[in-house]
Amino acid sequence: MSSIIWNKMKHDVKVKLLNEQHRKLFDTLKELYNAMEDKSDKAALLRIINNLSLYIKEHLDAEEALLEKYNYPELEEQREQHKLFVNKIEEFKKDFENNKFMLYFDMAIFLKSWIANHIEEIDKKYSDFLNSKGIY
Ligand SMILES: [Fe+2]
Repeated sequence: MSSIIWNKMKHDVKVKLLNEQHRKLFDTLKELYNAMEDKSDKAALLRIINNLSLYIKEHLDAEEALLEKYNYPELEEQREQHKLFVNKIEEFKKDFENNKFMLYFDMAIFLKSWIANHIEEIDKKYSDFLNSKGIY
């Protein structure tokens, strides 16, 4: 397994702020891969989980608020998927507290599939819509 690098063709949602926020998730995934290689960094996993909680507050909420402001027709789909993300991070927190074996791998698999299925598919659908409202 290897990390994923942000790629303009695949991941650009054509809104600067949302791209910047998305890139933080790629940074977090990279940190997770570093932590997998360097097991001596015991605090890494907790730091990564906290980063993901911050990502929920800073990004998912901001994205929903922006889509709501302009009456995005597929807002519900976004909300439902974001809820799944929030629940999954809660689950990871509990797994961390219970010292779940190989939690790194579960998290890496989840984040990679989130990038492929959410950012690359669902998020990219709002680009033209937001651009048409003057949001870049
Ligand atoms: Fe989203």
